[in-house]
Amino acid sequence: MAGYNEGMDKVLELQKLYSQIEADKSLPLLHSNLVFGEGSPDCDVLFIGEAPGVNEDQEQRPFVGRAGQLLRKNIREIGWAERDVYITNIVKRRPPENRDPNEEEIEKYKPYLARQIEIIAPKIIIPLGRFSMNYFLPLAKITRDQGKLFNIEKYFILPMLHPAAALRGNETMRMFEETFKKLPAALEKIKKGEVDKAKPYIPAEKKQKYEDVQAKLF
Ligand code: URA
Repeated sequence: MAGYNEGMDKVLELQKLYSQIEADKSLPLLHSNLVFGEGSPDCDVLFIGEAPGVNEDQEQRPFVGRAGQLLRKNIREIGWAERDVYITNIVKRRPPENRDPNEEEIEKYKPYLARQIEIIAPKIIIPLGRFSMNYFLPLAKITRDQGKLFNIEKYFILPMLHPAAALRGNETMRMFEETFKKLPAALEKIKKGEVDKAKPYIPAEKKQKYEDVQAKLF
């Protein structure tokens, strides 16, 4: 696929970024292993979770535990190959006892995630769960806004429930699977330029009413 970053050696740039994170001893959570992310740097679709758990820390791969298996099964079931997408997290090391990442951790890892997104330049970003969604869309509410398509600058964002939340109940599983089935059509519309970019998401500081600015695809 020829992306916006055509000409950039994405593999090399991601390797450089990996080395920079490894060398940055000012980052929090240094007791845990670095889980950088995996997949194709030329992908259209970037899934972003919150932080690695115990299995991810051991294997140094994102989403390899129960929730990860559910995510990967759904990716395959909509006809995408795992190697054709990219999977990563906001915070690249495991917080102790699987607690949620705190604000300081998110802030400190932010420049590295921003660079990772810039290098990969996906057509669509899929934040998994509330934390990841609120990183991009601070005012969004996960049950209300999962499955909707938002536009921020050059990126399309489609938040989803976290697969761990889907594993907790029948209704959440139904929502998770239903949204997953929409992803191929959403990507096609974006690739064909059929999505209205006229209603961008406006950040909280601009004091716009959230409801006025959300773009709903389906
Ligand atoms: N949950 C996440 O948010 N990320 C992982 O990598 C695994 C579980």
